[in-house]
Amino acid sequence: MPLTGRWTLTRYLIEERRRYPDASGELNALILDISLACKAIARIVAMGALGEAMPAGGQMGGAINVQGEVQKPLDVMSNDIFIRMNEWSGHLAGMVSEEMDEPLQIPANYQRGKYLLVFDPLDGSSNIDVNVSVGSIFSILRAPADVVASGRDVTEADFLQPGAAQVAAGYALYGPTTMLVLTVGNGVAGFTLNPTLGEFVLTHPNIRVPVQTQEFAINTSNARFWEPPVKRYVDECMAGRIGPRGKDFNMRWIASMVAEAHRILMRGGVFLYPRDTKDPAKPGRLRLLYEASPIGFVMEQAGGRCSTGRQPILGVKPTALHQRIGLVFGSAEEVERIERYHHEPVEESAHAPLFAARSLFRD
Ligand code: AHG
Ligand code: MN
Ligand code: MN
Repeated sequence: MPLTGRWTLTRYLIEERRRYPDASGELNALILDISLACKAIARIVAMGALGEAMPAGGQMGGAINVQGEVQKPLDVMSNDIFIRMNEWSGHLAGMVSEEMDEPLQIPANYQRGKYLLVFDPLDGSSNIDVNVSVGSIFSILRAPADVVASGRDVTEADFLQPGAAQVAAGYALYGPTTMLVLTVGNGVAGFTLNPTLGEFVLTHPNIRVPVQTQEFAINTSNARFWEPPVKRYVDECMAGRIGPRGKDFNMRWIASMVAEAHRILMRGGVFLYPRDTKDPAKPGRLRLLYEASPIGFVMEQAGGRCSTGRQPILGVKPTALHQRIGLVFGSAEEVERIERYHHEPVEESAHAPLFAARSLFRD
């Protein structure tokens, strides 16, 4: 495909920077390094069982990460790629990743910079074995002023900033095509990797999430652990045209949040991984700092909404690097409805127990 008439990611970033005459270009350079990491990961993912990261025919085992989850070789390799592509540049004061217990310090032989990078190097990695789309999620924050001034080591507290403080965020989706979807705080742009040029090319300028939808995404195997507002919402969707919503809903569950977020950005929908009662030690499944906050920034910039179920995600200040949180995002009207249900008093008779007359599992 000829490039004529299309913008590359580099051009998009330069055009965006013109809005800030004093900008140094460091943010752009950082985003380009991240995009290079994503291209490298895309190549490894695309090689599948032919590559080194996945044994032919077999399921991949691995060590246990800080989350108590099995680390696949590709999780570790992707984490390494993010680090190697970004540690040397002088733009970062430190990094935090799903795969690392503590913040990563920029090695002493490199300069330290004014930004912090947080990332989920491979999201949906349980889907790798079955050749279903996975992705990477990233978020850029400003390092606190004293970190920049002193060049000291970063601490956990330096990263505990609400999503509203993000400078840029986005994800790469390793699907039938590799895409990079990005916000630098001025709407959302989608780029498709042209594999022959090795360039991300702007194919989806100004992505907007449709305000209304008839499609929801939730892992219904957790239904018995849901809180009443979530049960109510899903029951009403399932009741379809003859229920209180007066329309039929469709459902999807990919188990790769990046892929679900992308579907919702393209055609609308709502995604829920709500707080539930499954494990009192885990208030939700997804992580605030490097999953919920960046996806929240992208959604809000695309005219969608992102919530804990009770309040906007972007307003939540993390209390720990790997803190989990309930997450609801997508078409604005649905997310607002779900928040409203969380604030309304629960009508016990109508929505609980789950197997009552109006329940999801009524035969
Ligand atoms: P990760 O692979 O980074 O640990 O994240 C997987 C997440 C997310 O992508 C997905 O929506 C969710 O886990 C799926 O959870 P279930 O297996 O409970 O459906
Ligand atoms: Mn993830
Ligand atoms: Mn991951």
